[in-house]
Amino acid sequence: MINTNSYQAKQFNLSGLNGISDRTLEMHFKLYEGYVKETNNLSDRISEFLSDGKVDQEEVPAYSELTRRLGFEYNGMVLHEYYFGNMKREGPGNPEKNSAFFRAAEASFGSYDIWKADFVGIGKMRGVGWAICYENPANGRLSNHWITLHETGNVAGFNPVLVMDVWEHAFLLDYKPAERPKYIDAFFSNIAWSVCDERLKRGLAARSATTGELG
Ligand SMILES: [Fe+2]
Repeated sequence: MINTNSYQAKQFNLSGLNGISDRTLEMHFKLYEGYVKETNNLSDRISEFLSDGKVDQEEVPAYSELTRRLGFEYNGMVLHEYYFGNMKREGPGNPEKNSAFFRAAEASFGSYDIWKADFVGIGKMRGVGWAICYENPANGRLSNHWITLHETGNVAGFNPVLVMDVWEHAFLLDYKPAERPKYIDAFFSNIAWSVCDERLKRGLAARSATTGELG
């Protein structure tokens, strides 16, 4: 059966980052490709259950388990694309003061520094997961969230603006497990803030289209 819905792993032109080695990135790209492969595999297996137009009673346990795993793999795939997509070599560290992200952080948190304290604080939380800064598509407000694994804590319909992987595999070749703060510092020095601005612009364009207003 030809599945026209299958995903292709994206290629990311990322190397020479500050404090995150090429070895880490190459290993991480392979992990990401595993998520793409497994998303496709699970989607195919679930569609086989549906090929007769229904889920038979004896199929329910396997169908349910595969569907639960799909949430994990699917979010794992998508979040890695956001994560690799919001990094670049020789990042400026902090966003420009007149940038869309800086202004949105000020408007939402009172200041960029408070936004950063919250985001970094979430990144240091014990557990396996992600720190994500989301934009509320209804009003442009930013909020930071802890995501357990890949799928628990994502806010439905919100726009991921800055995504930071804090699973140990993101830094274990470069730092000790207890050195996550050093990895977070390194991550910040590699942020492509222009990408975050673009993501905010897309959110604004969607709001404008909904309300018929320009900005
Ligand atoms: Fe990861």
